[in-house]
Amino acid sequence: MRAQGARKGLPAIVFLGRNGLLYAIQVARVQSPAQAGIPDGPFFWPRPMSCNLLARGRDNVSRTPFLAGNWKMYKTGPEAVAFIEAFKPLVGNLSGREAALGVPATAIFQAAQAAAGTGILIGAQNIWYEKEGAYTGEISAAMAKAAGAGFVIIGHSERRQYYGETDEWVNKKLKAAAAEGLVPVVCVGESLAERESGSTFKVLESQLRGALDGITPEIAKPLVIAYEPVWAIGTGKTATAAQAQEAHAFLRGVLAKALGTQSADAIRILYGGSVKPDNAKALLSEADIDGALVGGAALKPDSFAQIVNFDK
Ligand code: PGA
Repeated sequence: MRAQGARKGLPAIVFLGRNGLLYAIQVARVQSPAQAGIPDGPFFWPRPMSCNLLARGRDNVSRTPFLAGNWKMYKTGPEAVAFIEAFKPLVGNLSGREAALGVPATAIFQAAQAAAGTGILIGAQNIWYEKEGAYTGEISAAMAKAAGAGFVIIGHSERRQYYGETDEWVNKKLKAAAAEGLVPVVCVGESLAERESGSTFKVLESQLRGALDGITPEIAKPLVIAYEPVWAIGTGKTATAAQAQEAHAFLRGVLAKALGTQSADAIRILYGGSVKPDNAKALLSEADIDGALVGGAALKPDSFAQIVNFDK
């Protein structure tokens, strides 16, 4: 629990707000914020402090942890059903978190039937942005939704790398998903060469800004971002919690510039890249890491359940 702006040694009046936030007010006998060592704020002073009791995140913001599996090209429909049957009792009623599985398109329907009533969200790993048409091999947002999808992964680095997915496509897919009521999980991330040449932030900013072109805070409401450094995907090389937090904080800053701070504070940013049961807790303890997008470790019910239950 964090009390931002709290001063040691000063008594505090603490009360629980109806929104589940714990508020504390401290009053110091000083002439100015600077004298009290309190950062001056644009709104009011003395400023209240809050600790979020029900969810993680910054002051006055609730970002329920979102733990999503990305199965890639693994599992048939019946295999998806067997996974979900084994997974359900391991995660119980999912209180205080959301669990999601991005399954192959051919398994969406059966997976969604097996997950009905459990709170586990089933999603697609890709869509095409047009409503319908001569696009052999593609599925639309409406088709994914009708099959039972509640979310869709967009702009995964494997799609960017192997299928030529561009920021412009990502942007159009985001709009198509949002228009259909699917939660868009938009992936961004730098390659090893980009990290080593010091261009990580530049790459992240241009990918995220490209994805958000023409997106209003209203459209962005259900949006989830996944930071997935390409060098950490499937390699066993996880970004350290500090490296990931640095990138997440940067991305939240880009969101704030593009959509305003209110949206930026509400949008969940997941970390992806070799998330495992033994590193999930440390990653998710960081202030701006609001969940995980998990590949390899989401293929087994027990390892994905341990990640979903990261704080238990
Ligand atoms: P990984 O994959 O967990 O196997 O590294 C993550 C992803 O590609 O989303």
